[in-house]
Amino acid sequence: MTNGGTNRGSWNSNIGFVLAAAGSAIGLGNLWKFPYIVGRHGGAAFVVVYLIMIVVLGFPFILAETALGRHARTNMVDAYTTVRRGWGFVGVFNFLASFFLLSYYGVLGGWVLNYLWQFIKGGVESGSAEQYFAGFTASTLPPILWMAVFIALYAVIVSHGITKGIERFSNFAMPLLLIMMIVVGIRSVTLPGAAEGLSFYLKPDFSKINLSTIGVATSQAFYSLSLGMGAIITYGSYVKRDANIVRMSAAIPILDTIVALLAGFVILPAVFSFGYDPQQGPGLIFVTLPAVFARMKFGAFFGALFFVLVLFAAVTSAISLLENLLDVVGEKCRLSRGKTVLLLAPIMFVSGLPSSLAFGPMQGFTLFGMNFFDLMDFAVSHVLLPISSFFLCIFVGYVWRPRNAVREITSHGRYRFVLSGVWTALIAVVLPAVILGITIHSFWTVGG
Ligand code: PHE
Repeated sequence: MTNGGTNRGSWNSNIGFVLAAAGSAIGLGNLWKFPYIVGRHGGAAFVVVYLIMIVVLGFPFILAETALGRHARTNMVDAYTTVRRGWGFVGVFNFLASFFLLSYYGVLGGWVLNYLWQFIKGGVESGSAEQYFAGFTASTLPPILWMAVFIALYAVIVSHGITKGIERFSNFAMPLLLIMMIVVGIRSVTLPGAAEGLSFYLKPDFSKINLSTIGVATSQAFYSLSLGMGAIITYGSYVKRDANIVRMSAAIPILDTIVALLAGFVILPAVFSFGYDPQQGPGLIFVTLPAVFARMKFGAFFGALFFVLVLFAAVTSAISLLENLLDVVGEKCRLSRGKTVLLLAPIMFVSGLPSSLAFGPMQGFTLFGMNFFDLMDFAVSHVLLPISSFFLCIFVGYVWRPRNAVREITSHGRYRFVLSGVWTALIAVVLPAVILGITIHSFWTVGG
């Protein structure tokens, strides 16, 4: 590898970065979280706010992370200290956010694996999908064992390295996922009574928008684009010096948003058609999808295929989180990739246990009305993620300085970046102000 004079790896091709970063972005945040958040926060009006946040805040932020990563060419903690000593703490926030997210991501990955297995065995009874979900998640051992399988899966892939493991894996799963979502989406929107769901999803009622909707939409945009965790800094650090970052980074929000919007078409019409409660939260896709597949010819087959693809999406996101942690731990402790994976995988397992048990034996443990799993999700989405994104903006805006960042973005003048003035204003002023505002607001109204 001849990049930047260091011995870090690099992507085999620019499309390698795009697919891997899109693989990181497209995950359970799109397939599992987006539909239930839309369900909870008022449907179409929320979607509109979300789209605005993706364009106005998400895209500039992706550029900042990618540029910082490529500039520093090191792990995400040292990326800050390379530019200015004393700023490694931002990387530590990124690290913590990644760690806590990965801990409960494993629980969800385990659920996906279990559903995949159920479909391979012939499907979940549509009439009792809700009871099945409640029973499975409330049990102690099965979800934990499935979580262990999920962790083993992403750990093995990461141990194979960034090009052999991650790049190859992302290259075929994503296109297939899109095709399958269109197929299942068509079934969903043609169900009897689907129209009500479609209008909920597509006809905005702007009276439903308030400050907390904006906060939730912003944090969902960041979560879905894998921002504020250093993941894109890490992936950016493998990008070649002469690659066009603007063009590459633009592809990520586009792909990510297509998948999120499709997930809404798959889930929401079906929710209304079957009379489920769109507000029910984290169980929404796990309850709705089995009912959709039960109405399809060869439903068990399509169900299994669909959950394989959901699994791919979840795995590629988990991979980026582990890669992120591994890069820091490996370089700091001078451990090989394989050894770092062996160290981190059991830690991820143990740290995921309380989130898994939160639906069963630990159900009684709640804080601010949330069980442990929801608490983790809240801590990541509404506390760690905003804090670390806020400091990243301050860092780029006032420490590294937009002028230097733009030089990196344009590969030292090789490419044009017409929006550099707008970008500077967004990253240095608008973004930190918005993030600060919604964070203060969300602390005020804990539980949103
Ligand atoms: N973007 C991923 C998803 O939507 C989650 C994620 C966040 C992954 C941050 C990596 C880093 O599921």
